[in-house]
Formats: sequence, C-alpha cells, structure tokens
Amino acid sequence: MSYPEQAAEVLALCARIAAHTDVPGTITRLFLSPATHRVHALLRAELESLGLDVRIDAIGNLRALYPGPTPDAPVLLLGSHIDTVPDAGPYDGILGVALPLVLLKSLAGTPLPYAIELIAFSEEEGVRFKFPFLGSRALINDLTPTDLARTDAAGISVSEALESLGAPSRSVPSNEVGSQTPDLSNALLLPNTFAFLELHIEQGPLLDSLDLPLGIVTSIVGQSRFDLTFTGQANHAGTTPMHLRRDPLAAAAVWMHRTEAYALAAAPLVATVGIIATHPGAANVIPATCTLSLDIRHPDPEALAQATAHVLSLATDIASTRGLRFEAHPTTHHPATPMHPGLRALLAEAAGQAAHHLPSGAGHDAMILARAIPAAMLFVRSPGGISHHPAETVHPADIAAALETCTRFLTTLNPADIAK
Ligand code: GLV
Ligand code: MN
Ligand code: MN
Repeated sequence: MSYPEQAAEVLALCARIAAHTDVPGTITRLFLSPATHRVHALLRAELESLGLDVRIDAIGNLRALYPGPTPDAPVLLLGSHIDTVPDAGPYDGILGVALPLVLLKSLAGTPLPYAIELIAFSEEEGVRFKFPFLGSRALINDLTPTDLARTDAAGISVSEALESLGAPSRSVPSNEVGSQTPDLSNALLLPNTFAFLELHIEQGPLLDSLDLPLGIVTSIVGQSRFDLTFTGQANHAGTTPMHLRRDPLAAAAVWMHRTEAYALAAAPLVATVGIIATHPGAANVIPATCTLSLDIRHPDPEALAQATAHVLSLATDIASTRGLRFEAHPTTHHPATPMHPGLRALLAEAAGQAAHHLPSGAGHDAMILARAIPAAMLFVRSPGGISHHPAETVHPADIAAALETCTRFLTTLNPADIAK
C-alpha cells in the first residue's frame, strides 16, 4: 500500500475513534469512561485482526505486542494517549495510536531485530482526576497510594475506577490513604524495552509557519499545576457597599490580570487559569471563596521556579491588601525533559529535509518515559496551530510523510546503537 493510501487508513481510524464520546456532539473521552471502553474494543479488534496479542493492563492502558525475532528480543515502545480534554479535536493523542497501528499492518512480515509494543495510554490529560499522566506513570512505577486515592467529581477514587478492570489489589501498610491499593505490576514497562517513540500533532503554529510537515522534538517544557483558593467573606450583593467587601473573585480577577501581564513580558513563560469556581455561586451573593487552577510552564527549570514563586507571591500580596486569605496547593510538577539525542539523530536522518527541530510546549507521555528509557517524539504539523479544540486538524500529505519517516526509522533502527 502506498503512503497516501496508508494515510487515508490512519485518518479513517482516527474518525472512527472520534465517534466514541462521553458527551454527544463533542469529542470528550475521559479515563475509563464508557467511550474509552468502546475505543478499547475497537482497537482490540483491529490489532487482533493483525494476529497480535492484546491486553489491557492494570491502569487501563491497551497494549499489543508485535513479536521480535526471539521471545527475549529488545522491545521498542510506540504509542500515545486515547483520553481527551473536554470538547477536543480528533487527533491529540489518537494520531499517535492510529498511525503506529497502520504502520504495524504495513510492516507485517518485515523482519526487524526487535519487537514492538504498541500502547494506547489510558490517561494523559488529567481531566477526570485533575492529575495527568496516570497511564505512563504506571509504566515507570511512579504512582503512589496517595495518587491512587485521588477522587473525581463524583467522589470515585482512581483505585475504585480501576476495579472496573478487574485488577487484583494488594495490601499496603495501613496509613491515611487506606490499606488496599490496586496491584499495578502488570502495567510496568516490559523488561526489555529499549526506547519509546511518540508521534503527536504539534498543537502549535511553528511548523505551519515554516510550511514544514514534520518536527523533531528537542525537549518538552517543564510544567507545574496548582489548586489556588482566595477566601473572603460571603455577603449580600445589594446591601454591602463596594469599599466594605472582601470579595475573593474580584481579587482573583486582579491576580489573573497581573499574572497575564507578567507572563506576556517573560516569554516563553506561559501561565493559564483553565478552571475557576466560586462558592456559594449565586448572582446576588458576594462569593465566600474563589478556587482556580494554575498551569505554568517554561523550558528553563530555574525560570519556571522563579516565575512560579513570583505569581504566587503576587496572589498573597493581593489577598492581604484586601483582607483575604490565599492558599496554593501544588498538584503536579514535571521538570523540563530533553529528548534522547541518539533517537533524535535517527529521526532526523529518516525525515531528511521534511523536519524542523523544535521544543514542545505541551506535556506528553514521552516526558514521563524519558525518566526510565531513551524517548523521542515526532511531530506532525497542526494547520493553523489549533489544538485542544474541535477544529484541530491535519493534512493527509503530512500523515503520509510521517508514515514514510517512521517506516524508515523503524527499518534502520538497531537497538544496539541506542545508548541509555
Ligand atoms: C497536554 O495536553 C498538556 O496539557 O500539555
Ligand atoms: Mn492534549
Ligand atoms: Mn496529547
């Protein structure tokens, strides 16, 4: 099959996956939701039709093995995530599962000196538990009982959600988070895994502005997330004069404005509030509390630490001048992560003139796996730079270029050349 024909298959598979949603009329697929289980069934059928062994591991990742020359052959891990943000596009994560699946089909019969494990990570975006990378963190044994005790909006914990998979549980020393936790050992990296390659849309405008189809990721920016709370005094909206209010939402608005101005002057720093809520939340009540999310990113670890300290101290100052309380709870921190130089060089050779080297402003499962094994990423241009939005799209010719590059990469890759 030609690369354009394979590209058409990839796009058709992405469209079939996109049809499975938790919220009709949108593409919304959260960790272990009914739509996710349907996507598991779809992928399982596709992969089993290629004669591959397929399993769902204890954290809900779907995994298929394309055998190597011997049972103990080194294993290359390929894949990305199948969960989405609310009202997502059809390619973020999904392309990095659909494209390797079609690649495996086209490779059938080609002898390679290694096995390939294709993985569809169960959870990368962090939407359901406000905590990203559950799928990939399980592979490197980086989930604690406290992480697994986090609850979603319905009060269901990660551990309870995993029970739907029938995962065995094991006892942990009884402490504040309970004495039973799921046994995630079958979610660990296969012992012979020597490298990870994640294919993903760029989700930004750079490749489009350069009119190039592909990108090779140099490093993934560091990111920290916080839950913030301004606490004031609830009161009557009609009777409380403006100068006698202790309004936490007004304080949050001032803080957001000043944070935006600070980040604008400190590029490539980015700082985002994506969630904001007030309590009690009525039109005629000055709120008692305002809670916000903060997502802050920078490629330089020191600059990230400094900027984070600055915006949090801004919030403390604004709160204290208005007679409010301010609290910040860190939820996640992922340091900036360079991609593996040897894998990047091989990708560059495979891509030729088609690729540009660029950093990733988005987080990816590759930044988790890079802590344990050599990891690399190939980006495909995002037309218009649009992502985390239903208008997210790709050019079919770029998918064909990615297939061609990946085929060259896979057929020239020698595990012995990839130093840790
Ligand atoms: C993943 O999409 C991220 O938040 O960067
Ligand atoms: Mn995303
Ligand atoms: Mn993604």
